[in-house]
Amino acid sequence: MTCQPSLLRFVFLLPRLSVKGDFNLKDLPGSGERVDILCRALSACFGWGPSTWNKDNLELAAVIDDKVTLTFSNPTCGVHDGETAWAKEIRRALQGNPPSFIQRREIGLETLIEEMISSCNSQTWALDENGTVFDDIRALIPAQENYIIIGDHKGYDKKAKRIFAKHSIYRISLGEISYLGSHCVAAMISMFERMK
Ligand SMILES: C[S@@+](CC[C@H](N)C(=O)[O-])C[C@H]1O[C@@H](n2cnc3c(N)ncnc32)[C@H](O)[C@@H]1O
Repeated sequence: MTCQPSLLRFVFLLPRLSVKGDFNLKDLPGSGERVDILCRALSACFGWGPSTWNKDNLELAAVIDDKVTLTFSNPTCGVHDGETAWAKEIRRALQGNPPSFIQRREIGLETLIEEMISSCNSQTWALDENGTVFDDIRALIPAQENYIIIGDHKGYDKKAKRIFAKHSIYRISLGEISYLGSHCVAAMISMFERMK
């Protein structure tokens, strides 16, 4: 029996981002080692992406350098307004002073995936241009909690691919075009919205 999907959880893999959080807010792609990818994904997830989906039922986890995982849920503080606002909160969290809507844990991808797949009534997919193409989320049999893993600007590294293979993570594709991770977030939210 399939139940109505209620939670959508994105997992961004950022193996090239430093856990130090010592980047310059005026140079997020350079000194931030592409922290702008995460800022845009957060804006898409909690800002412009959802139109009917309840934002309380969204979560985004960032696995940074496979060492630290920052989980964002129910953001407050008006941080929807731009990349720099998100970057300030990410920097605070990495420097050991996370705001209440960011949970900081010292875990990497493998531990996170083990938690995800052991969670009752959950389903985990990795978005990958070379995965199985689908055009309707129903074909994937969503669960109550749906985890969607997304790579950075270089895709997945060898370690992530090894972990996916070990845990039989199914790879799904939105087609041959390579989209920005933030656009993938919005596209997935929109598919889940159409399903309701
Ligand atoms: C900018 S893309 C990465 C492109 C990178 N050059 C590569 O070769 O993988 C960032 C991430 O968005 C997701 N993505 C982008 N386009 C996608 C598509 N058409 N289907 C599925 N996932 C996609 C994947 O998770 C990818 O790792």
